[in-house]
Amino acid sequence: MEKCLTTRIVGASVPRKEGADKLLGRACYVDDMEREGMWFGATVRSAIPRGIIRSIAFDRHIDWSEFTVVTARDIPGENHIHLIMTDQPCLADGKVNHCEEPILLLAHPDKHKLRKAVAAVHIEYELLPPVFSIEESERQDVIVWGADNLLKSYLLEKGDVDSAFSRAAHLVEGEYRTGPQEHLYIENQGIIAEYSAERGVTVWGSLQCPYYVFKSLRAVFDLPEEKVRVIQTETGGAFGGKEDFPSNVACHAALLAMKCGHPVKVVYDRIEDLAATTKRHPSRTRHRTALDKEGKLLAMEIDLATDGGAYATLSSTVLSRATLHASGPYLCPNVRIRSRSWATNNVPYGAFRGFGAPQAVFAMERHMDEIAAVLNMDPVELRRRNFLHEGDTNATEQLMREPVILDQLLDRALTESDYSARRRRFAQENSGSTIKRGMGISAFYHGSGFTGAGEVYLNSLAGVDVTHDGHVRVLVSNTEFGQGTNTILTQIAAEALGIEYSDAAMAAPDTGTVPNSGPTVASRTGMVVGRLIERAGLQLLALLREHAGLGASHTRDEFFAACARYRAAHGELVSLCRYEAPPDVHWDDEKYHGEAYGAYAWAVQVAQVAVDTVTYSAEVEEFWTVQEVGRVLHPILAAGQIEGGVAQGIGYALYEKVVMQDGRMANNQMTNYIMPTAEDVPPIHVYFEQIPFRYGGFGAKGIGELPHDGPAPAILNAIRDAIGIGFNSIPLLPEDLYAGLVSNQPAEEPVLP
Ligand code: MOS
Repeated sequence: MEKCLTTRIVGASVPRKEGADKLLGRACYVDDMEREGMWFGATVRSAIPRGIIRSIAFDRHIDWSEFTVVTARDIPGENHIHLIMTDQPCLADGKVNHCEEPILLLAHPDKHKLRKAVAAVHIEYELLPPVFSIEESERQDVIVWGADNLLKSYLLEKGDVDSAFSRAAHLVEGEYRTGPQEHLYIENQGIIAEYSAERGVTVWGSLQCPYYVFKSLRAVFDLPEEKVRVIQTETGGAFGGKEDFPSNVACHAALLAMKCGHPVKVVYDRIEDLAATTKRHPSRTRHRTALDKEGKLLAMEIDLATDGGAYATLSSTVLSRATLHASGPYLCPNVRIRSRSWATNNVPYGAFRGFGAPQAVFAMERHMDEIAAVLNMDPVELRRRNFLHEGDTNATEQLMREPVILDQLLDRALTESDYSARRRRFAQENSGSTIKRGMGISAFYHGSGFTGAGEVYLNSLAGVDVTHDGHVRVLVSNTEFGQGTNTILTQIAAEALGIEYSDAAMAAPDTGTVPNSGPTVASRTGMVVGRLIERAGLQLLALLREHAGLGASHTRDEFFAACARYRAAHGELVSLCRYEAPPDVHWDDEKYHGEAYGAYAWAVQVAQVAVDTVTYSAEVEEFWTVQEVGRVLHPILAAGQIEGGVAQGIGYALYEKVVMQDGRMANNQMTNYIMPTAEDVPPIHVYFEQIPFRYGGFGAKGIGELPHDGPAPAILNAIRDAIGIGFNSIPLLPEDLYAGLVSNQPAEEPVLP
């Protein structure tokens, strides 16, 4: 194992590729860009959650001849945003299904004139009864989507759950809820679009997935491939929020550009971005668990529901990931998971880091502590008795073929956090103090890459080429949005080719230049795309050995000399590789059975939390996170991923509340949507155990989403440890703590190891 860790560039914390540009202010974000003759665009949105559009009137105090107005009738192709389903219109046509749904677009050369103009479009509606919650939607009294409000459902079964329940020594039930969460990327959504009859549509913008936007534009404009071009500009954070949503903005900007004959920039301000764009799906998960006398899991019955909002967007895939992570990293012979995503008239929910897993892991890991309390067992011991090991199968009966080191991760987390000693000390100190401290843990895994046959379906193509002036370029459609894609993929290319890190660069993220290597989502880039780049590099070396006299081992100069010879003889020098599934991967999409993911990353997290019983605030004082993500490609970026995920998880647990009133976000400003700041984020101790994964780029597995899955349950478990009250819903705000503390007597003394 040590041998695979001997690399020069992979595993080193090299300077990030675009780091200097960002530091020096040279990095060009979409709102820094201008095109000649550029106009600005704005969106007129629905003021109601559900209804029929009766009339649209334009206030006569505005000179509308200066403006370009676009409605659904201006769409040359199909009026929908191309994703998994085609239910979401690009512009509402006759009816609306959520507040802030786009109805009409305006463009003007002076962006300051747009705000007034938007307010001067008067829309009259005939109201239809709306549905705002999972409970209202599942009652099906009002049908707002399809025949039954059901966006998607799954049923996963292993063993014989019903008979196992009859043999149980213990039966524990619980219901857990999670709220929506806003991405709060630093840079809001933004796109510039150009249109010409000869070249078609070109867009530049802040986005994760150039080829998703590409597909949407093709459908909306009914254009062939060669007439659509999507270029990612420097992107200031995304977290899934720029996975599907930029397709909407791009189609809107491009429709305006086509009609007004000028390039058009559409950039949302924070108010609009918070109100109108996707958020994390709210969820409700019910657990019913059977255990034997020793605390071993006998059966788990899990019922999981999400609110998908008004259109399907990515609800089915988010629900899929929630389903597949719902029973946690535990061995249980009998499992039944039913999951459903319900349509409502809320703004459509979408992709957000973790993609269903944070919701499911919150429920599972809170439930484990409630089980431990019922069994009068240490929560650490309960987990240890039920952990998956190599050779076991999980809920989809996927065989754990790779090493599973949960025990080792747990031991390290307990040691590094001094868990037992701290718990003992807090138990003594708490009785005489208004500040009550506790320790909580969570254990979980996160599947890397697309689910089931997803990666085969994506059929990603990626590679490297060598330009005439002797530069190696990485050819991918995967994008940098702060997480380190540029750096890790060039590290991998340079390492595979035996050249220097500075010899390799990313090709422009432009669909006119790069092949479709799939979306930058689902913790797939390092593992799946990284592996393609590694293979493409080795393939390029083989080409040079065969046709350009490159020796079996080479220096950097010999490599480039061979490249020059090859190019002189053959013209271009490019090496592309297509995705190949690891052997023996079987997935049944009907039964939800088999190898759900190519690999899992694993983690154990520990939170130390202080609850102030006078102010009812809870504060995370220290946090430990131990993970196995395969090979760590870049230690500083990897630690940054983990720290960022934990910070976001702390916000998810204790601060970030989306207040919805009649289908509209009421607190769509950063003054009252409270996210953690540097003040609220404690010291985060990050530890990696490295087991290189043989089918990942230089051994990498997914890393980006994993750290967001565990903080919320660890924090609420710590609160339970501190005050003896188990809270089952997040976000947990001071008013919720107050309600719990005044209505509950502490359940029982915490169990000490
Ligand atoms: Mo994502 S939430 O897979 O960008």
